[in-house]
Amino acid sequence: YYGSVVNPVNLTSFQALPRCLLAVGATGCVEWLVEDVEDALVRETMGRMGCLDNVVIPLKETEFIMPGFIDTHTHAPQFRNIGSGQQYELLDWLSIVTFPTETKFADLDFARRTYSSVVRRIINNGTTTCCYYGTLHLEATKLLADIIKSYGQRAFVGKCNMDRNCPDYYVEPSAEASIDATESLISHIRSLDSNHTEEPLVQPILTPRFAISCSPPLLASLGKLVLSDSSLRIQTHISENESEIELTKELFPECPSYAHVYDSFGLLRSNTILAHAVHLEPHEMDLIAQRGAGISHCPTSNFNLSSGVAPVGEFLDRGIKVGLGTDVSGGYSPSILNSVQTASIAAKVVAMQAKGSKPTSGNFSDRQLSVATLLYLATLGGAEVCDLKERVGSFAPGKSFDALIVNVSDKGGNPCIWGTGEEEKGKAALEGMLERLLFCGDDRNIARVFIQGKLVGGTEF
Ligand code: GUN
Ligand code: FE
Repeated sequence: YYGSVVNPVNLTSFQALPRCLLAVGATGCVEWLVEDVEDALVRETMGRMGCLDNVVIPLKETEFIMPGFIDTHTHAPQFRNIGSGQQYELLDWLSIVTFPTETKFADLDFARRTYSSVVRRIINNGTTTCCYYGTLHLEATKLLADIIKSYGQRAFVGKCNMDRNCPDYYVEPSAEASIDATESLISHIRSLDSNHTEEPLVQPILTPRFAISCSPPLLASLGKLVLSDSSLRIQTHISENESEIELTKELFPECPSYAHVYDSFGLLRSNTILAHAVHLEPHEMDLIAQRGAGISHCPTSNFNLSSGVAPVGEFLDRGIKVGLGTDVSGGYSPSILNSVQTASIAAKVVAMQAKGSKPTSGNFSDRQLSVATLLYLATLGGAEVCDLKERVGSFAPGKSFDALIVNVSDKGGNPCIWGTGEEEKGKAALEGMLERLLFCGDDRNIARVFIQGKLVGGTEF
């Protein structure tokens, strides 16, 4: 590929490379990347590398390449409810809106129809790695993994563990049944890629829904499972809503905090993904930082279900890994671009509330998030949270080419991004294009989506 490339580096910087030549090998990994190559030199460079002319794919002036988005938290079955039922707070929302819908996934035809369109929609929104919750159903969640695999997306897929405090019509009969089904799902997903030498695209993930819905024996068995299988990631919810936290503390009176509940069962690890974390106490943040667990920041959902505003800046100052999550259908958008926009607003809310109070010593607490930080959270930060930082989230030799070709021209049909790329050229123009994409882009701007080098989606797919 020859053209503009945006490459996140760390929480405070990214590379904007207007005339970049980027080579992707047959295995779908980046082979090399040369900055600032003159138009006229491209052919010569290709000659030197021994490549044929027709393997160079030039980008348009209004296009750039960036790493694919990483959604560290979403619920595939809840796409059935997207944009509805948002008048409730979490516990009512679960019992009135969510559980009745999730129970329908006992019907495999319904599941197939739903999941096919859900996965397509998520890929076309530019999400190249996605952490999915299914329902409690084994068969429907196997189907979800099959569909993701056939579409070529990188993903973690879990079936919810939930054996108590749920309605009679939507609860697992016992901890043993929940573990049996979980083990069957793990075997099924691992069999999809049995002769793969590298980390497969689709992987299983343990998904205790949240502490309230899991009995102590169930949490203990899940803890045992990960002890013998360190590559297994875990995803769950934490400290999202005040009533939820109160009930959790009542159910686990021996634990000093919500985070300690998971920790006491061996479920707080460096590959645990904790969604929300809106109301954590300082000592819980210490514990999470110590264990190296990551947080999925789901700002749209946090506003939408009136849960609160997560102090992301403080997490970052404490060295906690943070990625973004859409949390459909607590959140009403399947797009990580929407999460970026709402994450920016959420940080501004925190900063406005902190005005007049003593400034903190950190770089991020009580401040708005820069474009570099937002880009990082949407890509490399998510990769860290998923324990995939060596493989995805940015471009470097040996990393997978999980990438987007973004088009910010008004021809794409998004009138919000209008006239860019024409007035200026070079690094400043590219930085401007990235900012406008992050703040007012949507799926109309995602022209091509690549995962492991393969074209799998976008408006031009
Ligand atoms: N806590 C337990 N289950 C859920 C869920 O489905 N969505 C959200 N946002 N929080 C939860
Ligand atoms: Fe959620």
